[in-house]
Amino acid sequence: MTGMGQEVCRPVGLRCEYLENPLGIDEVHPRLGWKLEDRRQGAAQSAYELVVGTDSALVEKGDDDVAAGRVCSAAAGRGGSGAGGKGSGLEAGDVWSSGKRVSAAQLVSYEGPALRPWTRYYWRVIVWDKDGKRGALPGAARFETGMMGMANWRGAWISDSRDIRTGPAAYFRRAIRTGKKVRSARAYIAAAGLYELYINGAKVGDHRLDPMYTRFDRRNLYVTYDITGYLQQGDNAVGVLLGNGWYNMQSTAVWYFHEAPWRGRPCFCMDIRITYDDGSVETIGSGKDWKTSLSPIVFNSIYTGEHVDDRRQQAGWDRAGFNDSAWKEVIFRSAPSENVVAQVLPPVRDVERISPVSVKRLSDTVWVYDLGRNIAGVSELHVQGPAGARLRLVHGERLYPNGHVDQSNISVHYRPVGDGDPFQTDIYILSGKGEEVFKPLMGYKGFQYVEVVSSSPGVVLGANSLTGWFMHSDVGSVGRIESSDTLVNRLWSATNNSYLSNLMGYPTDCPQREKNGWTGDAHIAVETGLYNFNGINVYEKWMADHRDEQQPNGVLPSIVPTGGWGYEWGNGPDWTSTIALIPWNIYLFYGDSRLLGTCYDNIRRYVDRIDERGDNGVSSPGLTDWGLGDWIPVTTKPPVEFTSTVYFYADASILSRAAGLLGKKEDEKKYLALAEKIKKAFNAKYLDTMKGVYGSGLQTELCMPLYWGLVPADMKARVAASLARRVQADGNHLNVGLLGTKALLSALSENGYADLAYTVATQRTYPSWGWWIVNGATTLYENWPIDAKSDVSMNHIMFGEIGAWLFKGLGGILPDAGAPGFRHILLRPHFGKGLEEFRASHDCPYGEIVSSWKTVGGKIVYTAVVPPGATAELELPWKKVGLTAGTYEFRQP
Ligand code: BGC
Repeated sequence: MTGMGQEVCRPVGLRCEYLENPLGIDEVHPRLGWKLEDRRQGAAQSAYELVVGTDSALVEKGDDDVAAGRVCSAAAGRGGSGAGGKGSGLEAGDVWSSGKRVSAAQLVSYEGPALRPWTRYYWRVIVWDKDGKRGALPGAARFETGMMGMANWRGAWISDSRDIRTGPAAYFRRAIRTGKKVRSARAYIAAAGLYELYINGAKVGDHRLDPMYTRFDRRNLYVTYDITGYLQQGDNAVGVLLGNGWYNMQSTAVWYFHEAPWRGRPCFCMDIRITYDDGSVETIGSGKDWKTSLSPIVFNSIYTGEHVDDRRQQAGWDRAGFNDSAWKEVIFRSAPSENVVAQVLPPVRDVERISPVSVKRLSDTVWVYDLGRNIAGVSELHVQGPAGARLRLVHGERLYPNGHVDQSNISVHYRPVGDGDPFQTDIYILSGKGEEVFKPLMGYKGFQYVEVVSSSPGVVLGANSLTGWFMHSDVGSVGRIESSDTLVNRLWSATNNSYLSNLMGYPTDCPQREKNGWTGDAHIAVETGLYNFNGINVYEKWMADHRDEQQPNGVLPSIVPTGGWGYEWGNGPDWTSTIALIPWNIYLFYGDSRLLGTCYDNIRRYVDRIDERGDNGVSSPGLTDWGLGDWIPVTTKPPVEFTSTVYFYADASILSRAAGLLGKKEDEKKYLALAEKIKKAFNAKYLDTMKGVYGSGLQTELCMPLYWGLVPADMKARVAASLARRVQADGNHLNVGLLGTKALLSALSENGYADLAYTVATQRTYPSWGWWIVNGATTLYENWPIDAKSDVSMNHIMFGEIGAWLFKGLGGILPDAGAPGFRHILLRPHFGKGLEEFRASHDCPYGEIVSSWKTVGGKIVYTAVVPPGATAELELPWKKVGLTAGTYEFRQP
């Protein structure tokens, strides 16, 4: 044991609803969580007290007040919540104190009196360490409530009076006069479509593409901003720019988003709440005192591109004193839905600026920029030239041999009407007024190359004229892989690039061709996401999207959200088990059962639906052939019934466990029995007990039952041996599709074939992940051959399980369902043959877990870090040992 240090336990990383000091939450029982900073071996929390109040001084007041709190014992474990006690905190805070609770829980729901809207609450946690000694007392954290319900809105939904085919995006503005000194001000803005908010000439905040996509006719998101610093005493102007987003899809593709039932000309509703120095409050709601005009954005589609005519700029439109006499009246519009709720997730941002690695001038008017890597986002152009010159910015992932951008791999599902809306192309018309900057506001693309075509030789571009912005939901990073094998490092980074390129407030399949919330792609990638990023808020939002979409009979669509497409195709359990798999993984990674609870009924209805469907004509009870099967396989594919039944089993098992956790005893038994029935039917039909082989012995057929737990205990070793033999017969290469990739590597490494798993994972020849990388990929692809003719997106997260496997199969960092959220960590590292150095770290809810090794003189030196509050069970090839918090080193004998 190393790393002895300070002797104090300190709560750190305080989060409310998993966010740091969030603004505008609607949750009535917000979750409060913290970590411990305590470097002593065995560090843990023996008790805590939470204090919540509206006065920061009171909340932070005297240590002695809180130390005297009444002791209430509470269930240990994250999410545990004991009896709410009126401890000392009521003197210390003015709203709620939990009282001192003997509990190790580091995630606790607020249980005090009903929270008021628009209110800032301060909170702090007092912890007692493993010896019962009170820890250090850091300052208070805070959260602020938002609207807390539809009844509290004052503003009206407004729009201009134009129809859905209108090209130009609309501006809206109004003047505000603040007579008194402003103490604080908030803007609460909901939009159907996309908005940009401006005050006195400045864009408010740094969000992009807000609000995030939902099924607009069922649920709309609003965003809260602190606008105190944007207002000035006296005259102010507030401006709103509205774009189409997914609300008014004008581009036509095979998913019929242009026919979505919610479609409409964008509209918004906003309340501005100003608190003056004298304590008085003024609410300014959107309404008839706003005026509207058309903006220079003459066309915008989140799917294809943005067209801007800079000659139509109206300088100062969002400033006080602007003459808006030519602007038009706004109209009232009915609210898009009756459910307007807070957007509680890290926003999409321009996260990383990428300078091109090269620019090629193909002629006097054509330049091709290469960013050197594939991203989702936009390009930003700095340009000077004659008024009226027209630039086309064509975005793509690859080039033709003649150097022009080739979109043929990604434009296949686009069905343009005419040539006014070219695919992944922005159009910019210069105003001719000095240096102009163009960056689209209402969409994004997937690309590495940008071809800029000018209508005029008077425009001259240079190497620095264009840069790329990588955009995605700005989720914090919580995982890292470093190793002596550069291929491993590049695989990790390519996987994360594809994961982030496909996270825009909902997980997508690809950022170019579709931008669809394909369910199957997302559940395959959920572990990769959660090992590497703090993604819970995005998944919680997306599960709400699922609940919005579910039919009364349990059916869910294959893409979420959807305008209606996907209820008839691709939505069997192999894809749409997201409804069970995502809440379950959130439970494993965060130790938080809330999402399982909110989705419980939806999981149940989905499982019942598969079950009923099975009775109506599929081969035998317990089996289902509803699904797509092992998508994009190398050469072999098992029957759909095989793969779909495995997911049916996984869903029924999760449902039974969720029922157990939620105290639903009857359901627990019922769905356990269903799971057993499925397993029995599956093994009866597909398992050859004589040979130890499933089906015809394909890789997918052997790895899926192992991974998902359908193999009878006494057959596991033989099935694993069959799998290993099969992989060897396939030249130590994978031969699976989407569903097989999820299971293959872990089935090998968890069943005695870790070296073989490592070999397959790091192959550099076809078919493998490494084949893409050695051919220059910076993201993951959709198809195994790099010269495939169809299904050839170059930024797909679908085969992203490799990213999770680096943590699971090499680092061996696994959550334990019995003590989830990594309260108890299973550490089962596998030292890949020839992998000299490796380090996996994951910042779990308790702190950083590390599993790493070095080879010194031919022997392994293994290091593990277990964070405070957690324990681990370490399994090394030469030793098995239980660990408490601390840093440990083990040398191979
Ligand atoms: C998507 C996939 C998706 C699949 C469903 C494709 O077009 O890009 O990633 O899962 O359809 O079959």
